[in-house]
Amino acid sequence: MVKAVCVLQGEVQGTLWFEQDSGSNPVKVTGEVTGLKPGLHGFHIHEFGDNTNGCTSAGPHFNPLKKDHGGPEDSARHVGDLGNVTAGADGVAKVNITDKMIGLEGDHNIIGRTLVVHADPDDLGKGGHELSATTGNAGARLACGVIGITK
Ligand code: CU
Ligand code: ZN
Repeated sequence: MVKAVCVLQGEVQGTLWFEQDSGSNPVKVTGEVTGLKPGLHGFHIHEFGDNTNGCTSAGPHFNPLKKDHGGPEDSARHVGDLGNVTAGADGVAKVNITDKMIGLEGDHNIIGRTLVVHADPDDLGKGGHELSATTGNAGARLACGVIGITK
């Protein structure tokens, strides 16, 4: 079992936990994000674990397979495309995602990269906007944090 954690800091807050049984199994992502506007918010792993200039320094979506942006259920997607989290009327998004593309070891390892939560919904590549194929047009980076190993 490999475990990792990410503390999101910025205009909203959150703590997310990652677990993977072995290299080939899905990764479970659990936790919550608070302080959000109700509704959908893009939720991605970005390439760099660099927050020197805030969330901007995290770079683009983690995309080792050089695909277009998509949704988590799509075969054509960035490895980092985890779709959206949904905040309720209280501004809290409870996260419970199981994803087959991200890893905590191997080529798709997300440890040392940045998790970002966005201001707007991710259109999962289908919005017809010029940014749909790169970012899902998910808007500003509200908060981010580097994913690190935990016990
Ligand atoms: Cu993002
Ligand atoms: Zn993407």
